[in-house]
Amino acid sequence: AKKGCCLSRLPCFLLVFCSSEASRYLVEVLESVSHTELDDVIERVLDAVEKQPLSCSMIELSVVEVAVQDCTQSCDETIDNVFNIIGAFDVPRYIYNVEKKKFVPISMTSHPAPSLCGVAKDKAELFRERYTILQQRTHRHELFTPPAIGAAVEEGQNKFQLKTIEALLGSTAKLGEVIVLGMITQLKEGKFYLEDPSGTIQLDMSKFHNGLYTESCFVLAEGWYEDSVFHVNGFGFPPTEPSSATRAYYGNLNFFGGPSTTSVKASSKLKQLEEENEDAMFVIISDVWLDSVEVMEKLNIMFSGYAAMPPTCFIFCGNFSSAPYGKTQIKSLKGDWTDYPHSSPHPLSRFVFVPGPEDPGPGSILPRPPLADHITEEFRQRVPFSVFTTNPCRIQYCTQEIVVFREDLVNKMCRNCVRLPNNNLDIPNHFVKTILSQGHLTPLPLYVSPVFWAYDYSLRVYPVPDVIVFADKYDPFNISNTDCLTVNPGSFPRSGFTFKVYYPSNRTIEDSKLQGL
Ligand SMILES: *[C@@H]1O[C@H](CO)[C@@H](O)[C@H](O)[C@H]1NC(C)=O
Ligand SMILES: *[C@@H]1O[C@H](CO)[C@@H](O)[C@H](O)[C@H]1NC(C)=O
Ligand SMILES: *[C@@H]1O[C@H](CO)[C@@H](O)[C@H](O)[C@H]1NC(C)=O
Repeated sequence: AKKGCCLSRLPCFLLVFCSSEASRYLVEVLESVSHTELDDVIERVLDAVEKQPLSCSMIELSVVEVAVQDCTQSCDETIDNVFNIIGAFDVPRYIYNVEKKKFVPISMTSHPAPSLCGVAKDKAELFRERYTILQQRTHRHELFTPPAIGAAVEEGQNKFQLKTIEALLGSTAKLGEVIVLGMITQLKEGKFYLEDPSGTIQLDMSKFHNGLYTESCFVLAEGWYEDSVFHVNGFGFPPTEPSSATRAYYGNLNFFGGPSTTSVKASSKLKQLEEENEDAMFVIISDVWLDSVEVMEKLNIMFSGYAAMPPTCFIFCGNFSSAPYGKTQIKSLKGDWTDYPHSSPHPLSRFVFVPGPEDPGPGSILPRPPLADHITEEFRQRVPFSVFTTNPCRIQYCTQEIVVFREDLVNKMCRNCVRLPNNNLDIPNHFVKTILSQGHLTPLPLYVSPVFWAYDYSLRVYPVPDVIVFADKYDPFNISNTDCLTVNPGSFPRSGFTFKVYYPSNRTIEDSKLQGL
C-alpha cells in the first residue's frame, strides 16, 4: 500500500493503519513465515497489537515490534474474544439442577459425554430437559410466583398456580381454573393430549386461541378437569424472558460458547469495541447457489460493491447447489468452487458457510455437520478466511450472540400446527413468538424434525440470543421480540436477489437488493 498497510483479519472492528515503517517491518517478518502458518501468525500478531494501548489509529513501528516480540515469546496466546464461530457440536452443555435451582456444566454432573448414536435414555432426557428449562422460567414469572409469606392472601387470589398432570389425574372431583404446563402430543390420530413428566391427559380443545401451536410444543393450558378430560379454555405459551433477566438470575455463565470463560455480556471492553466500531456489518444471504451463473454474477457485483468497505462477515447459507446433488454433482460442485471467486471477494472479510437442507450431509437430522473437508478443501485454500460450519451455528461478536439456522421452518411449523392462526399475515410474528417461548429452534415432533438426541441442547435458544437468523425460503422478515432481533433474508435467487445487512453497533437490520444490470 502507498501510505500504509491496512491490517485486520476482521476489518470492521479493527481497521488500523500502520505507519509505512511499521508495514515494511511487518512484511519482512511475514515473508519469513511459511504459507501454512501465515494465518496463524497474523492472528497472533493482531492479538498482541490489540493488547497494547494505542494512542491513535496509526500504528507505529514500536507497537508492531513489541507485538511481534510478544507473540514469538508466548505462542500460548489467549484466544481472541472478539469474534468467534461456534459449531453446534461445540456448544457448552448445562444441565438444570432442580434441587439447587441452578444450571451446572455437564462436566460437574454424572452425565456421560454425548454421542451421535444416542442411547434411549437420551431420547427420554430430551423432552424432559426442554420441559425443565421452561418450567423454571415459568415458575419465576410474576404470574406464578407465590405471594410472599405473611402477605395477606385473599381467598381465590392465587388461582394462577401451576398444577402437574399427576395432580389432575389424582383428583376425583371436578377441578376448575387450573393451569398446566405440558407438551401437546397426538397419541391417536386426531386426539390430542397434554404431557408432562408426571403423566398424560386427554384434551378437549374446542376453544382455541390464536398462535402457532405445533405438536410437541409446550403450552400453558388453562381450563377445567372433569371425568378424565382436561377441557381447555385457552392456550398460552410459557412466558419468555429477556436474556438480561436470565443472567440476573444465573450470573455470568457462558451458555453460548466460545473461548470466554464468562459471558461476553459482562465485558465492558468488548461493549466499548462494539459501540465504537460503527463500520461493523454482517451480510446475510441464503440459498447461495454456487453452481448458478446468475447467482455468481450477482455475488461478484456485490463483492465489488463492498470492496471499499468490506463487511466483518458474510453469512452464506445453503443450499449451495441449485440442482439436486447426485454423485457426480458433488464433484462438480468442488470444481465450481475452484473457479470461484472470479473477481476475488474482499480478502479481509470472513466467510461463514452454513449448509442447507439439501447440501451433502447426513439427511435432515440436526444439528447438521459442516460440509465434508474434501468438498471444501480447494475453496478454503483460495479463500483463507472461509469457515465451513454446522447448521445451526453460533457467532459471537463482541458482546453479541448470534444464532444462524438454515431451515425451511415456517412452512414446516404451519403444516404441523394443531390449528392454523386465523390471520395469515401474522405468521412470521407467531412463528418468532413460538420459537422464543419454546426456547428451542425446532419445537416439532422428532419424526418431523429429527434431532441427534444427545445434542438437542445445541438447538436451545435460552438464554435468548441477541440475533437469530432464520434463513428460510419464506418471505423475508425482521422482527424484534424479547430483546432479540430475528431476521429472515429470504431466498437470494428466488426473491429477486434480496439479502439483509446487520449493523451490530446500532443493532439494526437493513434490506438490500441487487438491482438487475
Ligand atoms: C446503523 O449504523 C449503520 C452503520 O454505521 C448506518 O449505516 C445506519 O444508517 C444506522 N442505522 C440507524 C437506524 O441508525
Ligand atoms: C435445495 O435444493 C433442492 C434442489 O434444487 C430444492 O429442491 C430444494 O427445494 C432446496 N431446498 C431448499 C430448502 O431450498
Ligand atoms: C426492519 O426492517 C425495516 C425495513 O428495512 C427497517 O425499517 C426496520 O428498522 C428494521 N427493524 C429493525 C429492528 O432493525
